Order: sequence, then structure tokens, then C-alpha cells
Amino acid sequence: MIVTGAAGFIGSHTVDRLLEKECQVLGIDNLRTGTEANLEQAFSSPAFQLEIADVMDGRKLDDLIRSYRPEAIIHLAALVSVQESLENPDLNFSLNLNATHVIAESARKASVPRVVFASSAAVYGDDPPTPTRETETTRPISPYGTAKRASEVLLHGYGRSFGISSTCFRYFNVYGPRQDPGSPYSGVISIFQDRFSRNEPVTVFGDGLQTRDFISVFDVARANVFAATNPKAFSGTVNICTGQPSSLRDILGIFQNNFPGALPPRFAAPRSGDIRDSLGAPERAEEVLGFRARINLTEGLTALIKETF
Ligand code: UD1
Repeated sequence: MIVTGAAGFIGSHTVDRLLEKECQVLGIDNLRTGTEANLEQAFSSPAFQLEIADVMDGRKLDDLIRSYRPEAIIHLAALVSVQESLENPDLNFSLNLNATHVIAESARKASVPRVVFASSAAVYGDDPPTPTRETETTRPISPYGTAKRASEVLLHGYGRSFGISSTCFRYFNVYGPRQDPGSPYSGVISIFQDRFSRNEPVTVFGDGLQTRDFISVFDVARANVFAATNPKAFSGTVNICTGQPSSLRDILGIFQNNFPGALPPRFAAPRSGDIRDSLGAPERAEEVLGFRARINLTEGLTALIKETF
């Protein structure tokens, strides 16, 4: 197996899960946003190797893929911040679309049968009907969502042209250990975890009644590994979500239960461009992959807070 973005949040958990399943894994990462610390557990396995390389480097990728001859490529390397894609659309184009083409081409040349791709619920845009199904019209509202959608089309077109199976997962709001809380636009759970554990107040933008479909990174890694290791994995787009809405107040409540005596939250005006409700329809994942999220939010968040994962 090859995992691009192996040193990132979702990548490192995917590597850990592949190693648990006794796969040989070559991780590729340029360490732009990922860190080797995320791979601490993986480095203890002789089945794991890390290559520090850029997925934009087509020649290097060709060499690596041709010599490793993976059963599948899980392509997770990306510019992960929607905000950064708005500030630097050109870099977003390189990392989130051009790199997909590099991967597709290398896969074709080395006859890799399967690619699993990290797409995003951002392809749906603002306030689609909920729960949102994969058949919903995609109307991305950021360069990030646009490149993710374009990558899906590219991979499916390549798949049909050259017989490569491609599973494009539209992840909803992923949370869990190793998520970087470093920017104001980081995932809200990573920011809350950081602030509560340092006894600093959190800020709630808006009334806190906005909802999201939060899915544990352990469930996401399980979906990635299932699609990559299953020769009959479905080719197409699939939501990776729980189908359960949670409000920010629900999240806050779980943190407050676990941190009695924490400072009260501050409330601020809603963020511009914030969507009210995001909720995925999980049925297709169940139908075509037999995948269903197993970790409910209270359980996953409590484990994250207590670091008992
Ligand atoms: C996701 C993207 C975001 C993008 C948006 C487009 C991630 C991590 N974020 O945001 O960059 O603009 O899709 O639809 O992928 N919140 C707080 N306090 C905080 C941080 C966040 O109240 O300190 C609120 C946000 O305003 C939002 C909710 O929490 O209402 C969830 O925020 P976030 O985790 O950024 O996810 P998305 O809103 O889905």
C-alpha cells in the first residue's frame, strides 16, 4: 500500500490501521503540514517506510510507485485548509488538483488497480438539502471544494479510460487525536480540546445551534483501509459521515462535563460564510462498502479528552 500525506492527521491514522491489518506500507509526505511525530507508532513496525517527497514531483512518484508496486494508493496529501485555499488558490490548484493528476498518471503507468481519494463534504457548497446524498448537485464555494470535486471527476474519468478503480470519499467533519489546532480555522473540536485542556475560554461563533456531522478519524481510517484492501471496492463517490447531527452546544456540553470548573465560553458574531447545518446521508457507504460509522460523538470525544484511545 502507498499512502500519500502519511504524516498528516488522517494519513497517520490510516497508516496505523493498515499496519494493524498486516499490510506493507510506503508513506509519502513532504512534511509541509504533516509531522514525523504523528508516525511514532508506525515507525516501530518493520512493515512501514516513509519517503519524504512531494506528490508534485511526477518523476519521483513514478519511480516510487513503479518500484513499490502497491495494491492500491490512498491519496490523502492535500492543502487541507479551506481558508488557505481562498488566500492562495494557485497553491490549492497545485496540491489539490494537479497532484491528483500526477497520482492518476503514476498509477496508470505502474498498472496500480485502485486509488482511494480524500474528497470532502466541501464539494456540496453552502446549505444543500440535508441529509445530503452523493447524488446532490455539487456547488463548491471555495477553491478547496472546487479542486476536490475536479479531482473526483479526473479520477473517475481515468478509471473508466484505463481500468483503475477509484473510490472518492467525501469526508464530513473529521475529529480525533493528532488534529492540528494551530489556526483559527482548524477543526472546532481540535480548538476546543486545546483551549479546555489549557483552561482558556473557547469562542462560539453564533448561537452554537449550528450543526455538523462529526466523524471520528478512527472510523475514517477504517473506511480508507477497507476500500484500499478490497478488490471489489466500489468505484465512485461515497459520503463518509455518521448521519447524526450535533450542535456546537452539544460539543460544548461534553467538554464542560469533562472539565468541570472550566471558564465559560465567549459568544461572538457568526463567522461570515459559515453554513448552518451540514449532515451527510450515510446509506450509500453502507450499501456499497458495508461501512457504517461505529463511534458515536460522546464516546469519541470523551476518549479524545481523556486520551484513552
Ligand atoms: C469547514 C472548514 C472551514 C470552511 C467551511 C466551509 C474545516 C476544519 N473547516 O468548516 O475552513 O470555511 O467548512 O463550509 O474543515 N467554531 C466556533 N469556534 C471556534 C471554531 C469554530 O464556534 O473556535 C464554529 C464555526 O464557526 C462553525 C463550527 O464551529 O460554525 C464548525 O467549524 P469548523 O470545525 O471550522 O468546521 P466547518 O464550519 O464545517
